Amino acid sequence: MHIDELDTPVLTIDLDALETNLDRYQAYYTKHGIGLRPHIKTHKTLAIAHMQMAKGAIGLTCQKLGEAEVMVGGGLNKDILIPFNIIGKQKLDRLTALARRTEKLTVAADSAYTINGLSAAAAADGVTLGVVIEVETGSNRTGVTAQEAVELGQLIDKSPGLELRGIMGFPTAPSVRPLIQEILSLFDQHGLPHPIVSGGSTGYAMQAHEIPELTEYRSGEYPVGGYGHLVAGRHTVEQCALRVIATVVSRPNDDRVVLDGGSKTMSASIMQTDKGPSIGYIVEYPEARFYAFSEEHGHVDISACTKKPVIGERVQVLPVHPCPCVNEHNELVATRKGRVEAVWPIYARGKIR
Ligand SMILES: Cc1ncc(COP(=O)(O)O)c(C=O)c1O
Repeated sequence: MHIDELDTPVLTIDLDALETNLDRYQAYYTKHGIGLRPHIKTHKTLAIAHMQMAKGAIGLTCQKLGEAEVMVGGGLNKDILIPFNIIGKQKLDRLTALARRTEKLTVAADSAYTINGLSAAAAADGVTLGVVIEVETGSNRTGVTAQEAVELGQLIDKSPGLELRGIMGFPTAPSVRPLIQEILSLFDQHGLPHPIVSGGSTGYAMQAHEIPELTEYRSGEYPVGGYGHLVAGRHTVEQCALRVIATVVSRPNDDRVVLDGGSKTMSASIMQTDKGPSIGYIVEYPEARFYAFSEEHGHVDISACTKKPVIGERVQVLPVHPCPCVNEHNELVATRKGRVEAVWPIYARGKIR
């Protein structure tokens, strides 16, 4: 089938661009001796995760337990990191069950509360859970200080059912190297192991080597790019593999067209650009500004376009934030040179628990 025969709006991925991105990032990590642990929360599909592993990834990152269950159920059971505090009986029961089906499973913790829960569940179920301590590296989200990391490390080390595997942070700009060095030195002084030193974020993905202490790197968006990565120069338009194909359904006047996809298609992510807020980049009309949405309508300012899109015309949109965009869809249509090669179910969409 030709891409033009697909009904719209439809989420597509260009296989040539996808493979280029997978290869160029994997080559960087291989060259620097850092393990690449792709974050599957971006694509949420088994097919791409299998490609990432086949190209040399050391394992996968899954933000939520439900995403990890999908990956392991799909045969990706070698090495999974869940960089999230798993709390509560419902999830701890699922976690220990997952540990039995996974060759190596590691979770993050940033409190004694999380650690005690993990230990009680692991000991009761007779499994061992790997734990990394999440340290605060600049996002003001989860994570502890260097001193607290040592205290939690000591707690993990003596907790039944747990194995201390090191530390993780998000994001890890090169500027956090002194903090990481400080933590590792404190760990060494206290005889605490740290086989995993895990960094992450696509923004700093090609600077991971500036923190030589990192043993692995978690990047999610590198396979697909997106409007933000285009503006930042990390991906060219051609390398932005994830595209929503949408149709112009209305042109109320010569300054505005409306697409058949809004927040339920593109996601509600908005980015500030030099032209103002934007929801996505329209490949065929770089001068256009996709400035607003309703649930099912995309509002596009075409006043700056010399040639203007007409009703019935199809356009390709690079979403601002690929991860929530993918989460809006049931399937991803994989294309190459304009032909449909596969339709991949997005099994991990909506797996927020
Ligand atoms: C813990 C963690 N690691 C890695 C990533 C991947 O970063 P990116 O989305 O920039 O590829 C994220 C993204 O949210 C994250 O939360």
